[in-house]
Amino acid sequence: MKKLIVLLGILVCANGFAQQNAVITLHPEDANTQISKHVYGHFAEHLGSCIYGGLWVGEDSPVPNTNGYRTDVINALKELHIPNLRWPGGCFADEYHWMDGIGPREKRPKMVNNNWGGVVEDNSFGTHEFLNLCELLGCEPYVSGNVGSGTVEELAKWVEYMTSDGDSPMANLRRQNGREKPWKVKYLGIGNESWGCGGDMLPEFYADQYRRYSVYCRNFDNNKLFKIASGASDYDYHWTDVLMNKIGNKMNGLSLHYYTIKDWHQKGSATDFSGDDYYWTLGKSLEIEEVIQKHTAIMDTYDPKKNIGLMVDEWGTWFDVEPGTNPGFLFQQNTLRDAMVAALTLNIFNKYTGRIQMTNIAQVVNVLQSMILTKDDKMLLTPTYFVFKMYAVHQDATAIPLNLVCETKKIREKDVPVVSASASQKDGKIHISLTNLDLKSAQDVTIQLSGMKASQVSGQILTAKTVTDHNTFDNPNVLKPADFKGAKLKKDELTLQLPAHSIVVLEL
Ligand code: AHR
Repeated sequence: MKKLIVLLGILVCANGFAQQNAVITLHPEDANTQISKHVYGHFAEHLGSCIYGGLWVGEDSPVPNTNGYRTDVINALKELHIPNLRWPGGCFADEYHWMDGIGPREKRPKMVNNNWGGVVEDNSFGTHEFLNLCELLGCEPYVSGNVGSGTVEELAKWVEYMTSDGDSPMANLRRQNGREKPWKVKYLGIGNESWGCGGDMLPEFYADQYRRYSVYCRNFDNNKLFKIASGASDYDYHWTDVLMNKIGNKMNGLSLHYYTIKDWHQKGSATDFSGDDYYWTLGKSLEIEEVIQKHTAIMDTYDPKKNIGLMVDEWGTWFDVEPGTNPGFLFQQNTLRDAMVAALTLNIFNKYTGRIQMTNIAQVVNVLQSMILTKDDKMLLTPTYFVFKMYAVHQDATAIPLNLVCETKKIREKDVPVVSASASQKDGKIHISLTNLDLKSAQDVTIQLSGMKASQVSGQILTAKTVTDHNTFDNPNVLKPADFKGAKLKKDELTLQLPAHSIVVLEL
C-alpha cells in the first residue's frame, strides 16, 4: 500500500508525485443530442504516400492487396468503422481534373503534383478506385470539387458521372468504364481552402463562386447532395461571417481547418521534444474549442436553428517530416503526444454536437497525424489509431453533458484543466472517455452517475512510459491499448485513478 498524506485536497504519493482530485458529474437529464458518427471522419489526399503505397498499390504489386488496395491497411481501417473519407484533397483537389482519372489506367494522362513534392501523378487512382474503396470500407465518400482551376461544367459533369442513373452522357461514360449503377455520393465540397491554395480568393468572390458552382451540382435520381462550402482557417472569423451572410442556407455545411502547428518554419520534431513542447502542443490543440465557439457564435446569428453544419474537415498535428524523407510528403511519426491531441480534440467535438456535423483528421495513412504508417510491405498502427478505435463507441451515440472540476495547469498563459472527459450512451451502454494530460501526477477521479444505472464497469487504457514513445516498423507494439481494471463502481458513483499522461475509455 502506498503511504498518502492529504494536503488541501492534493494527495502526495510515497513515490513523490502529487496525486490530484477530479470530480465529474454526468447530466443525463440534458442528454438530447447525437454525436454524429461523421465526427470520426478521415481524409485521404494525393499527397506523399497516402494514396500510392498507403492505400493503393495496384493489382500487380508484391504487397498483398485486394483488387489493388493494401489488404493490411484495409483490414486495419475496417476496425475503426470509419464513417467517411474525404478525397482527393486538400490543395490537390483544386488542381485535379477528374476526367484524367477514369478509363483504362494505362491510357490515363499524367500530371505534376505541384502542391506536394512536384512528383508525377499517373492518375491510376481515380474516381472508380476511390468510390470502390469507400464501398470496401463501408464508409461515405466526401468528394472535394475543383473550383480553383476547374470549371463549373467539369464539376457538374463529375456529379452526373458519379450519381446519375439515367440515360445521360456522363452516366453512359461511367457504364462504358465498367460501373453500371451509380454510387451514392452525399458529401460534396465546393472547393478547398479557397482563400489560399484553392484559388487565393477573397470571401465575397468565393461566395459568388460557391453560388454559381453549386447551382449546377444537381441531385440525380435518389442521390441528395450535402454541399459544403470551403470555410475558414483557424481564427479567420471574417471569412465565416461573409460566407454565412452571402451564401447562407444555400450551403449545407461550412468547413473549418485547424492544425496544431507551432511555426510554419520550425514545426519541431514529431518524436524528439521536451515536456514544455508537449504542454505547448496540447495547449494549442485545446484552443480549437475557443475557435469553434467563435465560428459557431457567428453561424448562430445567421442560422440560429443550426441547419448549417460546421465541418472541421482538416485537423490534427503538423510537425517536421521524418529526417531523410521528402519535405513535400508530410510523413511524420506519431507518439503518445499525438494520441493525447486526438483524445482531447475528440472530447471537445463530442461536446458541440448541435453544430459540428463532421470532422476529418488529416490524414488517414502516411501523412501528418496518421492512423497508419507504411513502409514497403510493412505497416504500423499509430497511437492516434488506437484513440480512434477506443473512441469509436461514441459514434452515433447520445452525448451525455457533464460537469468537470479538476486541477488546472498554466499552458500558453491559460489555465488548462488537466483532466478532459466526454460521455455518451447507446444500446444500453454508457461510455466515458477520460484523459489526464499531466506528465507526472495521477488524478483520482470521482464520477457522479446522477441516477444512471450501471451494474459493471470495464475499460481500456492507452499510455506509455514517456510521451515521446511511438511504434516503429521494427518495434510496432510499443504502444497499444490494455485492459483497464482500476475503476470501481459504488451505487451512484464511479472512482478510479487516472495515471499520468493516459487516455482511458470506460464502458458501463
Ligand atoms: O493536409 C495537408 C494540407 O493542409 C491540405 O492539402 C490543405 O488543405 C491544408 O493546407
